[in-house]
Amino acid sequence: MIRSLFSRTDSFIMFLSVLLVMMMMVRWTEAGYTGTVLSHTSKDVQGSSFTVVRRFKLSFTSCGEIESWWCCTKKIDESSGEWCLKEYTDKITSWSFEYYWNWWDSRTWINNRNSVSALRFKTTYELRKRSDINRPNSSPQTAILPLMRVPSNCQRNINLLTFDPDGDHVECRHGSNPSIYECSTCTAPSVLSLSSSCCLSFSPTSSSYEDSYAVQLVMEDFPRQTIILTHYGGTNYSWSPSSFMSQIPVQFVFKVDPAAPSCTAGEYLPRFLPPTPEHGAQFFINVNETIEINIRAEATQSVITELLFSGPINMIKNSSGSGYFTLRWTPSVSQNDDNESHPICFVAQATASSSIYQSELRCVIVRVGNTPFIATPSPPPKTSRLTVLELKISTTLSLKDNKDKIEKAIKDELIRRGLPPDIKVRLLSDGSVKVNN
Ligand SMILES: *[C@@H]1O[C@H](CO)[C@@H](O)[C@H](O)[C@H]1NC(C)=O
Ligand SMILES: *[C@@H]1O[C@H](CO)[C@@H](O)[C@H](O)[C@H]1NC(C)=O
Ligand SMILES: *[C@@H]1O[C@H](CO)[C@@H](O)[C@H](O)[C@H]1NC(C)=O
Repeated sequence: MIRSLFSRTDSFIMFLSVLLVMMMMVRWTEAGYTGTVLSHTSKDVQGSSFTVVRRFKLSFTSCGEIESWWCCTKKIDESSGEWCLKEYTDKITSWSFEYYWNWWDSRTWINNRNSVSALRFKTTYELRKRSDINRPNSSPQTAILPLMRVPSNCQRNINLLTFDPDGDHVECRHGSNPSIYECSTCTAPSVLSLSSSCCLSFSPTSSSYEDSYAVQLVMEDFPRQTIILTHYGGTNYSWSPSSFMSQIPVQFVFKVDPAAPSCTAGEYLPRFLPPTPEHGAQFFINVNETIEINIRAEATQSVITELLFSGPINMIKNSSGSGYFTLRWTPSVSQNDDNESHPICFVAQATASSSIYQSELRCVIVRVGNTPFIATPSPPPKTSRLTVLELKISTTLSLKDNKDKIEKAIKDELIRRGLPPDIKVRLLSDGSVKVNN
């Protein structure tokens, strides 16, 4: 009796340790790299000196994996057990008007269907002086979450934000050349089709495609007309709109999940409601001012559990009840946030039974100037409404011919951000805006 009990215990212990080893193997094989977005901005040009601020947004399945690879990163956001997104920022003041590139590798992607194993990405800096803006180029700006998911039976477009601080034309393509370090294995995911305007689309497919895919894009900017690039040595190069300037990697994991009972946004898949800003919206603030982005999402058949975002470090995420979120951020000179545009992208995530559902991706741009906020003689108390009033709105419409349209756009934006619907907005000839009710 005792003997048999012992042997049962023995085999139980053996079973437990086998299970443990298996669990460790699963954990081990699931660890790994989940993506990168780089960008750089050239600033403070004085004569032949200028600075370049570089931002590396790196993600792995855990924050520790990033720390063991890359020193001195700061956390942006985390989806527990799935990914950790951190940023490394540096500011280099000794660049000269020259063309550079860098590449990185030596880590491994998480398991994926398109069999991309080794991490590899590259970035190109076009830092010769541009004749049209009299300073070196800045890279295009975008952001993405490390893991974008969609049920296998649902259509989904991922419209990548393609903002260029210099107003250049931006295009995307799949990385295709291992020998110039765009990727190590360059197989693009079969389930996604990419347009040159950076829209990735997924069409409903069979459950046999449910899996994770490694996406390795290259985003490039092109001048809108022929310009001259001047090297520090004095040589001029004519640069046509068909030649890229900067290149940045945009890498992330695309996951095709089990089919959802419905693909209608607002049922299982969360959908955004006002006052969530529109995709591509732009905000203008100065350093030391706080921007608060209010986001609301709903899902009737699932429970919204979190908002996941990519944006500046020091951006604070908060939730005031299911489906109501705020992202708050105060740019500062000490973080090199000034004179730069900052992309912010987010999704709302929900669960129902054990399934996870994501909303579409929304992205906005916050452009930070460095002019201090000029206090009025008796500074009014800083409420969130005032923060709203400090925002500026940008548009591509010309002021002269579209006064009415612009007034209406400003009015709509102010109402969306909480002002009463009967306000009157007037655009004055000096470019300032008068609002009264
Ligand atoms: C190079 O281009 C710059 C800017 O267009 C111009 O001012 C300069 O004279 C040119 N230099 C030469 C050597 O052609
Ligand atoms: C987050 O929101 C809660 C509830 O609205 C509030 O009590 C808390 O102070 C907020 N936290 C931050 C950091 O703003
Ligand atoms: C922003 O705030 C910091 C710290 O309070 C201060 O040193 C700096 O002068 C401020 N900058 C501007 C442009 O207001």
